[in-house]
Amino acid sequence: MIGGSTSAALIPGSFDPVTYGHLDVVGRAAACFDRVVVAVAPESSRKEPLFTVDDRLAMLVEVTDDLANVEVVVLEGLLATFAVRHGVRAVVKGLRAVSDFEYELQMAQLNLRLAGVETLFMPTTPDHSFLSSSLVREVARYGGDVSSMVPVSVARRLQARFAA
Ligand code: PNS
Repeated sequence: MIGGSTSAALIPGSFDPVTYGHLDVVGRAAACFDRVVVAVAPESSRKEPLFTVDDRLAMLVEVTDDLANVEVVVLEGLLATFAVRHGVRAVVKGLRAVSDFEYELQMAQLNLRLAGVETLFMPTTPDHSFLSSSLVREVARYGGDVSSMVPVSVARRLQARFAA
């Protein structure tokens, strides 16, 4: 284990819902930084969320409860200005595959331009490289087993959401 840590990191996302892939990145970032701020975006430009931002935040709070240096907040406004306002200089983003990279690179360069916020990419562990919130939603929508993809509390909320 490498010792030492470097202040704070921000992990933004829609988390609709949080998966074991997200938790892998959050947990590993929490081992590298003194403080990790997980920021839940109320909206995504790419899709209509399944869960409200309050539900997504509540799920994240529950499943990161064992990580003392992790806090969960709602992301307000632009990521770059939000990071500066929270005293965070570095954003951490998980990369599953090369296909993630193009979009993430654009956002990283934009955030650097807007407010000098750096982006550090963390490869997900191979176990989770296929996993995404949208796949989880799709499997759950048709009653499939998501227990290996999300924590049990999240699986229960998905079940309730699709039973409704
Ligand atoms: O989990 P997602 O949907 O890929 O997360 C995207 C997110 C929330 C990180 C991105 O949309 C974002 O940073 N939104 C905040 C508003 C902003 O700064 N937009 C400009 C960069 S796209």
